[in-house]
Amino acid sequence: MSMDEAARLGAAVDKVSVGRVYDYLLGGTHNYAVDQAFAEKQLAVLPEIRDFARANRAFLGRAVRYMVARGIRQFVDIGSGLPTQGNVHEVADEVAPGECRVVYIDNEPIARAHAQILLEQTADPNRHAALDADFFDRARLWERVMDTGLIDRTQPIGLLLVALLHFMPDEQNPHAALGFHRAMLPPGSLLALSHIHVAPEDVRTQTAGRKVAEEYGRRTNHTAIMRTREQIAGFFGDLDLVEPGLVWLPQWHPEIAGSEADASRARGLAGMARIP
Ligand SMILES: C[S@@+](CC[C@H](N)C(=O)[O-])C[C@H]1O[C@@H](n2cnc3c(N)ncnc32)[C@H](O)[C@@H]1O
Repeated sequence: MSMDEAARLGAAVDKVSVGRVYDYLLGGTHNYAVDQAFAEKQLAVLPEIRDFARANRAFLGRAVRYMVARGIRQFVDIGSGLPTQGNVHEVADEVAPGECRVVYIDNEPIARAHAQILLEQTADPNRHAALDADFFDRARLWERVMDTGLIDRTQPIGLLLVALLHFMPDEQNPHAALGFHRAMLPPGSLLALSHIHVAPEDVRTQTAGRKVAEEYGRRTNHTAIMRTREQIAGFFGDLDLVEPGLVWLPQWHPEIAGSEADASRARGLAGMARIP
């Protein structure tokens, strides 16, 4: 490990990490005391953040199953985090054992270190890799993806941006970076994304959500952004969404793997589009 990597890891251990908080909310073990204390404080303000985490993770699993059923055999998962279970390669291998390739990407050094350990324990180095890279790296990110040798740009790709874009304020221009990633996808590829969302008429949750978002901005490595349904739909640009469109997380193809979450508590929207 280089001095620079060691310093980044050291700094990351002391700071609350959105990826580790998410893992804690899911009941995982990849989190520290700072993350647990932060999560408990936010749960006291807005208990539904746990419902969001569970419904979101379940959506990720159904999105991967849907993609595999439509012939996708290679995945790029940006903002993959470090959840203890239900990772893309595990879900894909359940549906099509030994057939799918996955490149995980996260910009948090501990997420990448965990991913490396997880992959050593549960994955196949010939089919799965983890990169410490940033969504905004654009061309550099794809160079590194292609350097893994796992992705074939002549075949459809499943691009996953699940619970990622709400950490990116408009000032960072996530739309432009997303446009770049989209242009990298061959025809027939599928793009799945999810985003936190509170219905405008739900004033209580709007207020609590703003408080939690402020705390994320102050205490964690990422600020959290609330967006309207129209703004979230805007991330898909002119792409056609597959049925049922942009819906509450538990309402996205619940028949695929039984969705038990309560749509009224999910606090997030999800959708998938096909690249023509
Ligand atoms: C809430 S987790 C989501 C994990 C997984 N995608 C899921 O939905 O189950 C969000 C992850 O996005 C990562 N992240 C945030 N901004 C990023 C960026 N600019 N580039 C890459 N990863 C990023 C965080 O480090 C975190 O691990």
